[in-house]
Amino acid sequence: MAIICFQVSYPGAKKMNILITGGTGFIGSALCSRLVEDQHHLVVVSRHPERIKPPVQGIDSLANLDMVFDAVINLAGEPIVNKRWTDQQKQRILSSRLDTTQALIDYFARIETKPHVFISGSAIGYYGTGRTNDPIDETGAGDDSFSSQICRQWEAIALKAEPMGIRTCLLRTGVVLGNGGALAKMLTPFKLGAGGRMGSGTQWMSWIHIRDLIGIILYCIEHDGIQGPVNGTAPGPVTNQQFTKALGRVLNRPTIFPMPAAAIKLLMGQMGEELLLAGKKILPRKIQDAGYAFLFEDLEEALADVV
Ligand SMILES: NC(=O)c1ccc[n+]([C@@H]2O[C@H](COP(=O)([O-])OP(=O)(O)OC[C@H]3O[C@@H](n4cnc5c(N)ncnc54)[C@H](OP(=O)(O)O)[C@@H]3O)[C@@H](O)[C@H]2O)c1
Repeated sequence: MAIICFQVSYPGAKKMNILITGGTGFIGSALCSRLVEDQHHLVVVSRHPERIKPPVQGIDSLANLDMVFDAVINLAGEPIVNKRWTDQQKQRILSSRLDTTQALIDYFARIETKPHVFISGSAIGYYGTGRTNDPIDETGAGDDSFSSQICRQWEAIALKAEPMGIRTCLLRTGVVLGNGGALAKMLTPFKLGAGGRMGSGTQWMSWIHIRDLIGIILYCIEHDGIQGPVNGTAPGPVTNQQFTKALGRVLNRPTIFPMPAAAIKLLMGQMGEELLLAGKKILPRKIQDAGYAFLFEDLEEALADVV
């Protein structure tokens, strides 16, 4: 479990009952640490509730749950990058998200007192893989890529909470920089001086520091005016080449070994094409318009903080 200390807290804030799926993951465990620090009561739905330590309460199913929650946060899902996208793995990636989200919707339909807010995970993969340098905000469209299809189906189920009177936010998360996730996978080659750009390096990387992602989740909980899609990315997206150079500078290592696109396609197939060789310039328009102030707008500062 990633342990992250946060400086910002809201001592006067109301203590809430919060239900979380995926609370044991990279983002979820950091989120839980922050929420526990703020003295909220947390219930985490997990396939391994016995591994969850008090004061967080672990449960393995929503079936008999009749507690009242102020907020529900949905982050569960089979990891997207761990295995090659065979048909079977694609099905696991998809059904793990759709089934968990549908189970939450069924739970909402069953209980009398509904939560005030539902924050459901999604990703900037929603916006698809087509090449463009145009900035994209929450009004951007999807396409037929697998990443976009997952996000659109995942969001469509989450949105069934809205007619039940539950304010619903769809958190379209970018590349999260923290103690785990994509950065942890990149660090070893970069530390060994074997890092370099991927493919042409011109593809966009819309990143976010994990503290800002958690800040955005808290901001969505606290601000009744926010609903619908919310991009979870920093305001300064960079190209893969710029990201590579910044990481090399922070680690004080050369970045002279590019990974050719053909090698990425051969080794990782469609997953490499969609997640590493494609990328869009995503802007966090909605959360900034709502007044959220980012802790990390500059990539190099964010990387230095994390590594
Ligand atoms: N990290 C990123 O950069 C990033 C970027 C964009 C979007 N996201 C999305 O944000 C969410 C959280 O990301 P994360 O990086 O924290 O994910 P993670 O570390 O992989 O954790 C996700 C959690 O989902 C549960 N899970 C895993 N496989 C599952 C399966 N087959 N069926 C049901 N539950 C399963 C696990 O909880 P239990 O073992 O306790 O059941 C796990 O702790 C994910 O849905 C991810 O797609 C993440």
